[in-house]
Amino acid sequence: MTRAVGLITGSAHARLGLEIVSRSPTKTPFGPPSSPILEVAFHPHRIACIARHGEGSTIPPHAINYRANLWALHQHGVRRCVGVSAVGTLDPGFPPGELAVPEQLLDYTWGRAHTFCDGDGGEVVHVDFTAPFDPGLRGRVAAAAEAAGCSIRGGVYGATQGPRLETAAEIDRLQRDGCTMVGMTGMPEAALARELGMAYAICATAVNHAAGRGEEPDIHRQLERYLGTGVERLAATLQHLIPDLCANP
Ligand code: HPA
Repeated sequence: MTRAVGLITGSAHARLGLEIVSRSPTKTPFGPPSSPILEVAFHPHRIACIARHGEGSTIPPHAINYRANLWALHQHGVRRCVGVSAVGTLDPGFPPGELAVPEQLLDYTWGRAHTFCDGDGGEVVHVDFTAPFDPGLRGRVAAAAEAAGCSIRGGVYGATQGPRLETAAEIDRLQRDGCTMVGMTGMPEAALARELGMAYAICATAVNHAAGRGEEPDIHRQLERYLGTGVERLAATLQHLIPDLCANP
């Protein structure tokens, strides 16, 4: 099976209602990916998908084998990949429950295997990462969200280490730095996709106000309240996006 369009699903994997038609266990030089390659039907099309945290949602953000995930998708022919992700929002104009397709990112992660360029005798490549997300793919995600009746914003994605949530002071710093949303998995996923020459964009849903923001101090209560709406909007967007990407390379 080779599939040109790929999806990396996040913590809401099981709630997206994906129609999984086959599972292909896969090996890579970097070890096993988070899940088998899942063949997912969006009739009449099929795409390749990996559940970033595993199908049982057991792999925390810092322990994800990002290199294996991206490598496995690339080996299966994926050249355009959408990363689905839940984020906390710092932007009053981007309330929980809504969607975003970030255009920039700041990386606060550490200690993750973040490159295929390992100094193991291969050529040293400094990929251009000025625009970390593929502009064409971002446009297609935004158009699909609008076709699904969802408003969608841009913004700057701050990638934090997790698995704990941030302190209010950390969020203050992210805001001073210009971040408008915060998540734990956008890096090194975006950079590894770029190293492989794969077009990559994030379709994010805000599931909470970032730490120290908003009226409800209990972030887990916010997650319960907003995850459902966010997931419905993500699922509706994918129903427009995937057939469009498959039919119009
Ligand atoms: N911080 C980091 N990652 C997240 C958050 C958050 O508040 N919400 C969902 N993913």
